[in-house]
Amino acid sequence: MKLNDAVLSRRSIRAFLPDPVPREKIIKILEIARWAPSWGNIQPWEIVVADGEKTKLLAEAFVDESKKGISLRPDINMPVDYPAIHKERYVSLGRTLFTEMGIAREDKQARIEHYLNMYRFFGAPAVIYLTIDGGLNEPYACLDIGSIGTTICYAAVQEGLGTIYLAASMHYPYIAKKSFIYLKQRKLLSALPLERPIQKHRQAFSGVNESLWKKLCVLPINPLRPLFHESYETIEEFFRNNNHYSHVILYCYERFGW
Ligand SMILES: Cc1cc2nc3c(=O)[nH]c(=O)nc-3n(C[C@H](O)[C@H](O)[C@H](O)COP(=O)(O)O)c2cc1C
Repeated sequence: MKLNDAVLSRRSIRAFLPDPVPREKIIKILEIARWAPSWGNIQPWEIVVADGEKTKLLAEAFVDESKKGISLRPDINMPVDYPAIHKERYVSLGRTLFTEMGIAREDKQARIEHYLNMYRFFGAPAVIYLTIDGGLNEPYACLDIGSIGTTICYAAVQEGLGTIYLAASMHYPYIAKKSFIYLKQRKLLSALPLERPIQKHRQAFSGVNESLWKKLCVLPINPLRPLFHESYETIEEFFRNNNHYSHVILYCYERFGW
């Protein structure tokens, strides 16, 4: 695939097929993405991938938390106000999105359902968490996370998969941290659900600025960078010896003392 094609065909996907994503594909994507530039080459990203049952459990926990009406507690501050021109774009996105989805302005229940779907990772069976060490300087680490996150998006397109940056999945980071000991000392900056877009959305996929959705899902995590500091030559070798991502985190924790 040409770079131009990957860049021009990438869209934020908001409805995913539920089929499991082959782990070899995830590995391929992360192997490419780790070449992303970072400030001072510090490569601050620590990437954890959730899939299978873990994703479903995480999605359910996020939805339950949201239904309790608990206020958001992201690890980094979210935008609250911005200059008019940017606000206009933000409002316009919401309007376009709900129109595309056939959700009427007064249909409060459907809107709530859409937001809950974000917590379900729009039905995706796998989720890539982008995290950093809690001691890192945030503004610069955020630039680096954007760098690798976007590289992941393009690498996913190359593998025939869709993604979306999901700030919403960082609203209650303590849920993911409870599930994965490894994340306890980390800041969660974004999550990227991963799978093929569902068909009806795929049609709009190549259109203007349509983003679509209906379902969701999320999951676990795997630290990528630290693996390369250990005895494994490649991440493939690591995963060949560790069948389940959910085990990967635990395994890494025990083995490397994270
Ligand atoms: C940092 C970041 C966080 C985002 N968070 C969300 C989110 O929580 N929910 C959502 O529906 N879209 C989210 N998006 C997707 C944007 O809405 C999308 O990138 C934008 O509307 C442009 O559309 P495109 O990606 O299809 O070109 C996020 C994008 C970025 C870069």
